[in-house]
Amino acid sequence: MKTNHLTFQQALERLSSQPLSEADAQYFAMYSTEWDAIVTDPRLMRVPVDDHLVHRGDGVFETLLWEGGRLYNLEAHLKRLQHSASLIGLELPFSLETLRQILADLCETAAKKRFLVRLLLGRGPGGFGVDPAESLRASLYAIAYAAAPPFMERHPGGATVILSKIPPKSGGLANIKTCNYLPNVLMKAEASAAGAHFALGIDSDGFLTESYTENIMAVTQEGALILPPPDHHLPGTTLQRVAELAGKSGMTVLHQKLGPGDLKQMSELLILGTTAYVTSVTCFEGTVYPIGPVARKLSTMLLGDIRGTQGL
Ligand SMILES: Cc1ncc(COP(=O)(O)O)c(C=O)c1O
Repeated sequence: MKTNHLTFQQALERLSSQPLSEADAQYFAMYSTEWDAIVTDPRLMRVPVDDHLVHRGDGVFETLLWEGGRLYNLEAHLKRLQHSASLIGLELPFSLETLRQILADLCETAAKKRFLVRLLLGRGPGGFGVDPAESLRASLYAIAYAAAPPFMERHPGGATVILSKIPPKSGGLANIKTCNYLPNVLMKAEASAAGAHFALGIDSDGFLTESYTENIMAVTQEGALILPPPDHHLPGTTLQRVAELAGKSGMTVLHQKLGPGDLKQMSELLILGTTAYVTSVTCFEGTVYPIGPVARKLSTMLLGDIRGTQGL
């Protein structure tokens, strides 16, 4: 049987009569430079196939949480977006003020108490080559979509974590929040195949890096927090904010590389991120940890900060 051809009109009719899928219910609103407008019908949430973001992964992104009536830690996310973009020579298609306005309008349109915003800044449409100069103008897509409850609410027993065999991104690339997430995707698949919740990367010198979309933090027997220096991981906004809150509350915060063997001496092991919040690791490669007092304290601090009931 030969493949169908559709005229423009037939394609529009096909689109408008297409039933919404179950997945579509989680997409609340989207802004795109293609429409230069916000749409709420998921059938219109499309990305051009010749955007280098799509076929080369040439772009950067952020995932932000809307909770407590605002985009949490917005300035840190915008700063990291600009930093990532500058490292790959990409500029916003408009001013930062315009982006702030679009995000505010998008969140108002989504009109939900709690959701995520995925902000994608792409090289833009222009062809199928590898040369970024082919794209005439950067693209921007911002989608408000449903957020699952924090990990510890869904898994009160804590997280099981394995050591990953996937080679991590090299230092430079790991610091950029690029749309090249294949190693991260493979880590997630690796964890799921092993029946674990998360996998931790290990660099060529034998030091732990991060999980697929989360950072790690360890707690010494004396209650000090250890953050691995960001040589081979993304500087997480959650990790940085929690460390800042902990430091201001008088806790000791140390920056130190961690090998898998070092974790055996730790009293608690934590995973942090925009979607993980503060998650307690209760098993890492056979070593068992409690859901301890430090995790509870940091979790309360972070939730208070997100919901605007506690902060600096
Ligand atoms: C690779 C990676 N590491 C760490 C994080 C945690 O960063 P944040 O706390 O800003 O969500 C993310 C977030 O998506 C990530 O993708």
